[in-house]
Amino acid sequence: MVTDAPARATDQADASTAEHKLRVFSGIQPSGNFHLGNYLGAVRNWVNQIDESESIFCIVDLHALLNNPDPVVLQEQIVNLASSLLASGLDPDKCLLFVQSDVPAHSELQWLLNAVTQFGELRRMTQFKDKSAGKGDAVSATVLNYPILMAADIILYDTEKVPVGDDQRQHIELTRDIVTRFNARYGETFVMPEADIKTEGARIMSLDDPTEKMSKSSPREASYISFADSPDVIRKKIRRAVTDSGDTITAGDDKPALTNLIQIYGSLSGKSTPEVERHFEGKRYGDFKKELAEVVVDSLTPIQDELVRLKGDVPYISGVLQQGAERASEAAETKMRLVRDRMGIGRPR
Ligand code: TYM
Repeated sequence: MVTDAPARATDQADASTAEHKLRVFSGIQPSGNFHLGNYLGAVRNWVNQIDESESIFCIVDLHALLNNPDPVVLQEQIVNLASSLLASGLDPDKCLLFVQSDVPAHSELQWLLNAVTQFGELRRMTQFKDKSAGKGDAVSATVLNYPILMAADIILYDTEKVPVGDDQRQHIELTRDIVTRFNARYGETFVMPEADIKTEGARIMSLDDPTEKMSKSSPREASYISFADSPDVIRKKIRRAVTDSGDTITAGDDKPALTNLIQIYGSLSGKSTPEVERHFEGKRYGDFKKELAEVVVDSLTPIQDELVRLKGDVPYISGVLQQGAERASEAAETKMRLVRDRMGIGRPR
């Protein structure tokens, strides 16, 4: 349980004590559909370590502004995402869950970190290159500055471990560079975070194009399995998922589509890739897909039932998020006092 969050923000010396619990922080954008990639790459790992860590999870609505969302839709997506996270097992008694803009320290710190971040570093980010491709000078400044806000999210809470999917690796590397530079210039202020990226499920690919990662913002519904999909829609999407040439159910560099489906099957059934391959030895693609669809449906159905129930209870969702924001704000404010002090800003005290 995150009970001592405000104290931790100034006391970094307890890392060696027996009862030290790792501070974990991660975020997710309320944009598009919560999908199987988000669950397997990130959220399931958040839930799995919730008992042994001090966990803080954030619905990053400021990051979602990158996609120019309609304000009404954005509000709906915040409720949807909060419901999906709670339904996936984020017990609000065991972690903090809040909306990023409810804790203004995130944006304040982002501005301050601009001072130790270089344009060249931001321009080199893969995500910036992808999202700005073909836009010339018309690309929004949010696309460029996005990783600084992510760094602020992480280091505001003395985070030690950041459980994410593989696509966030580069942003966490940049965060580490920002910490090194800030601490060197202003004195030891921020804890150095580490990415926690599992080998299984860290990069779930699109069902209709295994060279592209499964993405919330994809316009092609057949590319992802959303938590809003009914069992029949899930079965249909898996039946239509592309496969590779050949007829054996085996993974490999030359079989990106099957490798992805085997990963999904293995991640949900707790089997390693060789175990999945053995399980389907001598079987056909059709048999594999049928069984895979049932594994996905069986895994998602209980979460989906809970999601529907929670989504209808907006006052409850709002209460959880408010409580999370209040407790996160206390920790954030303690840290910000130290940061402002170190940087010499504000009136004399
Ligand atoms: P976002 O919202 O795109 O994704 C949320 C989490 O899901 C993971 N993920 C995937 N994992 C495996 N396969 C996929 N196809 C897949 N797609 C998404 C992501 O890696 C991520 O862990 N910038 C972040 C949000 C963020 C954040 C943070 C994360 C803001 N501040 C601080 C960690 C710490 C993002 O856009 O994630």
